[in-house]
Amino acid sequence: MKAVTIHEYGGPDELTYEEIPVPEYGPGEILVRVHATGINPVDWKTREGYNKERRNTKFPLILGWDVAGAVAETGSLVSRFKTGDLIFAMADMTRNGAEAEYVVLKTDAAARVPATISLEQSAAVPLAALTAWMMLFDKANLQPGQHILIHAASGGVGSFAVQLAKIAGAYVAGTTSEANIDYVKSLGADEIINYKAEDFSGRLKDYDVVLDTIGGETQKKSFKVLKRDGTLVTTVKPQDENLAKEYSVRLQGGLVMPNGARLQEIAGLIDEGKIKVHVEKEFGLKEVRVAQEYSQSGKVRGKLIVKVQ
Ligand SMILES: NC(=O)c1ccc[n+]([C@@H]2O[C@H](COP(=O)([O-])OP(=O)(O)OC[C@H]3O[C@@H](n4cnc5c(N)ncnc54)[C@H](OP(=O)(O)O)[C@@H]3O)[C@@H](O)[C@H]2O)c1
Repeated sequence: MKAVTIHEYGGPDELTYEEIPVPEYGPGEILVRVHATGINPVDWKTREGYNKERRNTKFPLILGWDVAGAVAETGSLVSRFKTGDLIFAMADMTRNGAEAEYVVLKTDAAARVPATISLEQSAAVPLAALTAWMMLFDKANLQPGQHILIHAASGGVGSFAVQLAKIAGAYVAGTTSEANIDYVKSLGADEIINYKAEDFSGRLKDYDVVLDTIGGETQKKSFKVLKRDGTLVTTVKPQDENLAKEYSVRLQGGLVMPNGARLQEIAGLIDEGKIKVHVEKEFGLKEVRVAQEYSQSGKVRGKLIVKVQ
């Protein structure tokens, strides 16, 4: 099969378009013919060796853990899916990803694609939407009527987080730059702060939850907008436990995991028109490098996808 691989950690030059064997699958797994894969910052971070001590990487490695496609073959224990079923999933990040014609998934990672959006749009959903859900509801226990600040509300995680928080009945403030203000408004945010023109920590106070996807000074300043006993959840590294103690707030991080059942709930919300999926740009499999470089620029509005076939 055609795939984009890396043979060692490094820069964009490591990305190699090549022919490799179709992967083998186990009795409880499905082999999926990839139609499209979503780009996430974890792709280029992994390529660069981020967290490599925690990975047991076998090279060549295929990046890209969002997938939408058709079930090609099923393991002997699989009854929930059959050949030809259209599925989407976040793949297991400890294994090969979906920048390839085929990927192997455990069945509990996969869900049936939403009926009302394209396979390309479906590929943009899993990792970012599952992250937003995990952060808002597993980690922060967001409740109706609560106030939440969502940083990078125009990004992959942020776009889903704004919409999920609104569905849950929260009051949502979001940070973004001038160019994305109308986009974030269209997602349903109640209040938008242009982080390049205004310091959010000077405007907002007594918030219940902050979702940080930026880290650094943004994370540090976020403590100031929370009420006592509020919660700061972060998709990047939780930085300062001392600040959390000083402000009497909970500071929580975490790593998203595949979750087919939850993804099926998200598919339902998409089909009910409650969640919109914005794909800013589509690339071909030979253009993974350009797609990763764009992701690395930190300027993506919504999501990028790679169409494989
Ligand atoms: N822990 C986990 O399991 C997990 C899961 C998913 C993602 N992550 C991490 O979470 C981070 C965000 O991921 P993502 O997919 O949402 O990224 P992304 O889609 O690449 O984010 C891009 C967005 O960030 C906005 N942005 C950049 N700097 C900003 C700032 N200082 N303040 C506010 N907005 C800013 C940009 O808006 P402007 O162009 O308007 O500036 C752009 O729309 C990444 O570091 C990723 O690796 C972790």
